[in-house]
Amino acid sequence: MELHVPLVQAHDLTRKWGKGPHAQLGVDRVDLNIGHGELASIVGPSGSGKSTLGALIAGIDTPSSGSLVVDGARIDSLSNDRLAQWRGRTVGIVFQDFHLIPTLTAAENVALAVQFADRTVRRAERSDRSNEALDAVGLADKSRRLPAQLSGGEQQRVAIARAIVTRPRLIVADEPTGSLDQASGHEVFELLAGLTGTGTTVVLITHDRELAAGADRQIAMLDGRIAAHTAAGVDMSSFAVSDESAAASGVDLEPAR
Ligand SMILES: Nc1ncnc2c1ncn2[C@@H]1O[C@H](COP(=O)(O)OP(=O)(O)OP(=O)(O)O)[C@@H](O)[C@H]1O
Ligand SMILES: [Mg+2]
Repeated sequence: MELHVPLVQAHDLTRKWGKGPHAQLGVDRVDLNIGHGELASIVGPSGSGKSTLGALIAGIDTPSSGSLVVDGARIDSLSNDRLAQWRGRTVGIVFQDFHLIPTLTAAENVALAVQFADRTVRRAERSDRSNEALDAVGLADKSRRLPAQLSGGEQQRVAIARAIVTRPRLIVADEPTGSLDQASGHEVFELLAGLTGTGTTVVLITHDRELAAGADRQIAMLDGRIAAHTAAGVDMSSFAVSDESAAASGVDLEPAR
């Protein structure tokens, strides 16, 4: 994989459901590149297509049309089996509501992800890798607890450990702080942001303006389209309302790439 080629390259990417005038558009002809080691936040009003775009990039869903290359693979045209294999090797996914298996300990939840990604890894190594990942999120001492014995913030850190244990090039996190208080949300953001230091690309879908503004780039969606990109540190809150109000607030929006 050549590093100067963006990790994510979407062209004319569309996801819709149904046909004709009644089709529901999730993502509408999106062009987007995301670089290696970039932390990109995706913002926009409810229903604007953030989760749909995230699911496409993560290979959980398949586009209706357009091309999508992630880590050198044309994932828009992979069969379901191949896509699942690719996903196991390439992507770590974090959801708002953690999705941990309640009957497994933190360590077992994380070890299971290793098993899914690579059946040839032995039990002892799965366990070692699991403990290493839990250590990386500051939960080494709670690895034997069940999810119900952990706080929400801790559960999300287990979910991050599960996402990183396969050493994916890409993490897609859809509202990972949406169920957390502000302090835990910040911890989760810092963990995700820290991953870029090792070249991991992080796509963070969030409603939290402050966290979004801490990303390298903010991608603003509106009605399934990318309406704007901005650099770090810009509060895009007024943008979601209209272009005029963004202009009035002095927000300098780059045209959508
Ligand atoms: N399986 C589906 N079938 C039909 N329409 C869908 C489906 N999934 C999503 N949509 C539609 O696609 C559009 C984008 O939805 P999406 O979930 O991506 O929005 P979002 O930006 O993530 O919103 P939120 O901030 O509320 O999570 C919405 O109009 C939604 O109704
Ligand atoms: Mg969503």
